[in-house]
Amino acid sequence: MEKRTPLTEKETAPLRSLDEWEEDLLYRYPEADIAGSEPGQPAKAKDAYRDYDNPGRDTVREFYRLNHQYQTYDFVRAKEREFLRFDKREMPVWGALEYLNTLVDDSDPDTDLDQLQHLMQTSEAIRADGHPDWFVLTGFLHDLGKVLCLFGEPQWAVVGDTFPVGCGFSDRVVYPEFFASNPDAQHETYRTPYGVYAPNCGLRNVHLSWGHDEYLYQLTKDHLPEPALYMIRYHSFYAQHRENAYDHLMDDHDRAMFAWVRKFNPYDLYSKSPKPPVVAELKPYYEDLIAKYLPATLKL
Ligand SMILES: [Fe+2]
Ligand SMILES: [Fe+2]
Repeated sequence: MEKRTPLTEKETAPLRSLDEWEEDLLYRYPEADIAGSEPGQPAKAKDAYRDYDNPGRDTVREFYRLNHQYQTYDFVRAKEREFLRFDKREMPVWGALEYLNTLVDDSDPDTDLDQLQHLMQTSEAIRADGHPDWFVLTGFLHDLGKVLCLFGEPQWAVVGDTFPVGCGFSDRVVYPEFFASNPDAQHETYRTPYGVYAPNCGLRNVHLSWGHDEYLYQLTKDHLPEPALYMIRYHSFYAQHRENAYDHLMDDHDRAMFAWVRKFNPYDLYSKSPKPPVVAELKPYYEDLIAKYLPATLKL
């Protein structure tokens, strides 16, 4: 792997809070647009997003500049080796959720939900719609992989839209112009449409940019039903579940399973309600659900 000079504070944390990325997703994919996101159809919001003038734009732009520059095939493989040993620490699931909640949020401390409340709003919306308990649990856990930030990882290696590495970057990934600074864009194999992969090889054979999705998938893969694992692993893969930019790497099984990823996405994006859930009241229900599916402690 290429040697780099150590990252500056600005390069590690371009966003004022991790939530800025998710707030930006709402500008790109407003709720009214969801009807326009049928498989095979690119989402409609993109042009509006491109012109949208919002104060968070500069930090989000800078975030994607760094993300697209540094998420190379070699970087992803190195992070997999570093984090998929799960030898950093051991804690109960609820402890890990509370640990996640220590992520400091600098922006609008009065109005923003903390991480645990975002998870609970997502899962409570799923529960209210009468979905199976493993679906509810998936909503409750889906961002737990953000604990990567607490291990000192830069924001652009924890959150952000994900995209395949080791093959050509799609111009349907947000801010595609920033891929010009990614050395893989010049690589003789990685810059080709299929790169190191075979046509329609299935996403299980494809490495996506490194972040909280893949990390949590690997952490939970022996414990949850397959649709839950697809939701966890690909919930930030907007380039596919909203933009259908990587059909050429998907197999039929992926296509069937992405119905679940698309079913999950509105709960993640649009379940914010002004009345935050009372965590203490709901805790016993979620502790039972965690105990039903997951081991008593997680190895992070
Ligand atoms: Fe997420
Ligand atoms: Fe989320």
